[in-house]
Amino acid sequence: MKLAISAFLAAYLALPATAKMDLRMLDKYEGANCLDGSAGAYYIEKSATPSTKYQLFFEGGGWCYNDKDCANRATGDLGSSKNYPAQTDRMGGVASADCDLNPAFCDFNFVFMKYCDGNSFSGALESTVHIDETEQDLHFRGHYILEAVMTDLISNEGMDQVTELSLTGCSAGGLSTFLHSDYVQEFVSSQVSQDFKYGATPVSGFFLMDRQNVHDEFVMSAQMKTIFELSNATVGVHQGCIENTDAENQWKCNTAPEALKHIEQPIFVLDSSMDSWQSGCIMTNKAIDYDKTATRDMPNGLCSQAEGFEDCGGDVGNCNDEQIYSVVEYQGSFVRLLTNAAGYQKDNSGAFIYPCFTHCAGQDDNSFRGFTVDGTNMSTAVNDWWQGVGVNGAVTKSYLSQIYNLDSSNPNPTC
Ligand SMILES: *[C@@H]1O[C@H](CO)[C@@H](O)[C@H](O)[C@H]1NC(C)=O
Ligand SMILES: *[C@@H]1O[C@H](CO)[C@@H](O)[C@H](O)[C@H]1NC(C)=O
Repeated sequence: MKLAISAFLAAYLALPATAKMDLRMLDKYEGANCLDGSAGAYYIEKSATPSTKYQLFFEGGGWCYNDKDCANRATGDLGSSKNYPAQTDRMGGVASADCDLNPAFCDFNFVFMKYCDGNSFSGALESTVHIDETEQDLHFRGHYILEAVMTDLISNEGMDQVTELSLTGCSAGGLSTFLHSDYVQEFVSSQVSQDFKYGATPVSGFFLMDRQNVHDEFVMSAQMKTIFELSNATVGVHQGCIENTDAENQWKCNTAPEALKHIEQPIFVLDSSMDSWQSGCIMTNKAIDYDKTATRDMPNGLCSQAEGFEDCGGDVGNCNDEQIYSVVEYQGSFVRLLTNAAGYQKDNSGAFIYPCFTHCAGQDDNSFRGFTVDGTNMSTAVNDWWQGVGVNGAVTKSYLSQIYNLDSSNPNPTC
């Protein structure tokens, strides 16, 4: 027994220590508040070797879609910093510190921006929203949290010396990466005196939010329009999009396909053409009647609930022959919206789109290493893109997995 334990300990100690990030509260920045009014926050892990490179990573976690939904969210970690631990673990893939796995960004100072505002770091409401039932006052201040993170990094964490800056994040954090890609570059540029290399790598954030579900109901669209308005996000989403869009449609600037039409900075999109979150929560979701629903614990709406699609939405491997048409059509829209967008077509921009039915594969070590398109793994695709950013004459290669066609004997998205 004793021997077994010490052998176990020896094996344990031989492993590299788990990377731990340290908490920084933004309590000195007035108005940089989570939904419940507590201070925004981020975690940081400095590079093992002194470095002037920074990677800013947006945490994900869906969205809240109306006042009641946001009031519920305000009581947990996605709406309050009250219970954030002093340290937490870092994610992998595009955020990994392992240079074999992630040669592009492994030696960057890593910053993990905590998501607690309910709308992808976009809200900018000056007042608060009072919830009578629970006596809560909700703050929609994501835009100011992001500004405070950047200001704090520049003032206190050496980012005034930045030479390379990478913006990334997954899921709702992937959407944040699209929405704020130009803003972050512009803000940091305005605060530091030197030029720096810059690019964004949104992971699983290209949500087709302005799209009907399989029954032709615009469920996700209605949800996003509501949170855009509730959080007063006009000033917090992509400004080029806002300037070119009439007031009625400006909520669409809160979505990645619209933002990408206007994005100027280099961007390399990592995503699945049939993302497992989108299949349930956009393609086969169902509207929530909040007034008739007793529980408030439904942060992402009623996913995979569209009638007849309950099994298919949760796992497209279960779709029948007729339902697979919806999947193929969705993938077609996905690739069309991506590749037609001006921001995608720019020099120094591109994408790595795989067919695997997953979510957030770009922050997962095994997928980052193992998913290949045209014989290239995600790790190499990202590194090749990053090495070319800003280099005269460098060509950015895109990797687009084959769309599923109905003639194939197995049209289901698999890896
Ligand atoms: C990705 O592919 C390249 C080229 O085949 C290989 O050298 C590299 O080790 C792979 N990366 C990972 C993390 O496995
Ligand atoms: C909403 O944001 C705008 C800036 O886009 C600001 O001028 C306005 O005061 C804000 N409104 C509220 C109610 O917070």
